[in-house]
Amino acid sequence: MPSCALTIKVNNKLSLKKPTANHPLPIIVLYASDDGQILGNLGDAEYLARAEQLIKQSGFGASLGESVSDYALHAKELPAISVIGVGKANKIANNIAKIATATYAAIKSVPNAAILWGDVICQIHFTQFVTALIGAGYRFEHHKSKPKDADKLRQVNIVCTKDGEKDYQAALQFAQATASGIACAKDVANEAPNLLTPSELAKKAKQLAKDYEDTMRIHILGEKEMQKLGMGCFLAVSQGSDQEGKLAVIEYYGKSGKNAKKPKLHHPIALVGKGLTFDTGGISLKHAAGMEEMKFDMGGAASILGTMRAVAEAGLKIDIVAVLACAENMPSARAARPGDVVTAMNGTSVEILNTDAEGRLVLCDTLCYVQEHYDAKVIIDTATLTGACVIALGSVRSGLYSNDEDTLFALESASEYTNDLVWHMPLDDSYDEQINSKVADIQNIGGREAGSVTAACFLQRFIKEGQAWAHLDIAGTAWKSGSTNAATGRPVALLAQYIRQQTQG
Ligand code: BES
Ligand code: MN
Ligand code: ZN
Repeated sequence: MPSCALTIKVNNKLSLKKPTANHPLPIIVLYASDDGQILGNLGDAEYLARAEQLIKQSGFGASLGESVSDYALHAKELPAISVIGVGKANKIANNIAKIATATYAAIKSVPNAAILWGDVICQIHFTQFVTALIGAGYRFEHHKSKPKDADKLRQVNIVCTKDGEKDYQAALQFAQATASGIACAKDVANEAPNLLTPSELAKKAKQLAKDYEDTMRIHILGEKEMQKLGMGCFLAVSQGSDQEGKLAVIEYYGKSGKNAKKPKLHHPIALVGKGLTFDTGGISLKHAAGMEEMKFDMGGAASILGTMRAVAEAGLKIDIVAVLACAENMPSARAARPGDVVTAMNGTSVEILNTDAEGRLVLCDTLCYVQEHYDAKVIIDTATLTGACVIALGSVRSGLYSNDEDTLFALESASEYTNDLVWHMPLDDSYDEQINSKVADIQNIGGREAGSVTAACFLQRFIKEGQAWAHLDIAGTAWKSGSTNAATGRPVALLAQYIRQQTQG
């Protein structure tokens, strides 16, 4: 995984070194709101005056994401300045990522930059800012025979007030760890589905465990093992593909340490990710238009992998087990049919009425596996589970389902902290009735109504009494559709922050 080539430092004053060929003068970034105010207690009259002049001369309106620079005029003898518009001053909190993206665009073509934030943003928004600034430099280009020139930016100094420095310093390392987790999730999710097969996805997990071998162990199950365990639902999905299904189980010993004779996780947080490396729908075949987007159907697994990287890089002192459910959903002579009845690891019989509702089938056995083998404090699964969730919440918020008040509250608070937003969705018994089957215990679809909810109800049927659990339907948030067509790395920031909060409580 490429590590971040960008060095970010926090300072309480702007110190300019004599320029050299390799270290020319930086671009100095200031921020302005759309009422014409330069923001922040900058303690530097010179740049303030220049920024004010630049705004006046250029007719710059400081709308959100707009920028103006005198780089062309000054580059050689003076540090250039760029002013970035933040739009409405009282809306900054909602727009940190957009401001970071505009900042990156303004400085990417020079080696170093200084960002004069002063005291404008708090520690929470600073964390979001750094995460998004690094994220803005992300590229997925390794399939291009002629990749574009790399951005020149190497070093960023973020200048704050003396009072704010401690908070910013404290946030910096975690923000960087989060950013590398996000980049990891994007790299894996963006990969082509012929190259990222279930086995390759499991290999990515293996590589991660190797990168952090002091704290991680990994165990990969193939279809034979799954057969022995009675994972009939998982296998019903995987059987139609020539690619073998895999379960990648990563153990992170952040608290217990893995060097005991018989290492054992202590009340771990369990993370489970849907890892469909491609979802054709199976015999209930999807339409052709846009089907290529179903390479992102492993976005859940990618987000769990990215979260593990972030957590390990940040060195969080907590135990975690992460399980990636890796499979491919293909139509073939061996594929499951609508009407098939299969049995999950916990003995629940399932009537498959639509082979395109495969995510819940791989996940239900994975949830059984986790509960059978670990004494998890809480289980959180992420899955690009339903098109219905995209209709309900679009690409703004992930759907959040949970049977546990504390987990709901904690995830909602981490969601606010990171602006990686979620929305609490219902799990009433009256929805759950929709998945009762005539011939088996349950069926894998609940009809047209409330499709994201009935999918969550299906998963909940496999959660034991008293086991805290949450499910994130990330079908709308894991990737950007349309012309962008790229993974977002969500909800890595949310999960990493949630786990960090759990280490503090
Ligand atoms: N991976 C899809 C869900 C999906 C659809 C994610 C569109 C992102 C965009 C999932 O496996 C699926 O096909 N779900 C079906 C369920 C239905 C058959 C009950 C769906 O949402 O149409
Ligand atoms: Mn499907
Ligand atoms: Zn799917």
